[in-house]
Amino acid sequence: EAERTFIAIKPDGVQRGLIADIIARFERKGYKLVAVKILVPTKEFAGKHYAEHEGRPFFEGLTDFLSSGPVLAMVWEGQGVVTYGRKMIGATKPLESAPGTIRGDFGIQVGRNIIHGSDSPDSAKKEIGLWFTPEDLVSYGLDI
Ligand code: CMP
Repeated sequence: EAERTFIAIKPDGVQRGLIADIIARFERKGYKLVAVKILVPTKEFAGKHYAEHEGRPFFEGLTDFLSSGPVLAMVWEGQGVVTYGRKMIGATKPLESAPGTIRGDFGIQVGRNIIHGSDSPDSAKKEIGLWFTPEDLVSYGLDI
């Protein structure tokens, strides 16, 4: 079964006009976009997405922020996409993420770190299931 991950461009990334740049990075690496939509999540939905962080001091701010504007939700497919996608994204704190990574290139604050990517195949399955229905995912070949 093909490996898939859930990637979301958060409201700060959308508002800063980073959608095309971020999609281009995944495309150029050779990953395949199999689902995409733009939506403003409710705070309740944001809480479900970040359920593992419930109780942390930043949880309120985090769910307020994710629900504050449009999010571009995507599923990317390809070999090693969970781990390599996280490498492309960079460390959670933009000031600790390497230049050349998405967060390293575009951000400063942890609460405005532009993008989310599943941290394991298990989280990927959960997150894809939360944001998409199975019918949303398309299947096609990519000769690269
Ligand atoms: P993300 O990879 O989406 O997963 C959890 C998010 O919580 C993280 O990115 C940050 O945007 C956000 N966050 C806000 N404050 C903190 C913090 N102090 N430590 C870790 N994550 C934080």
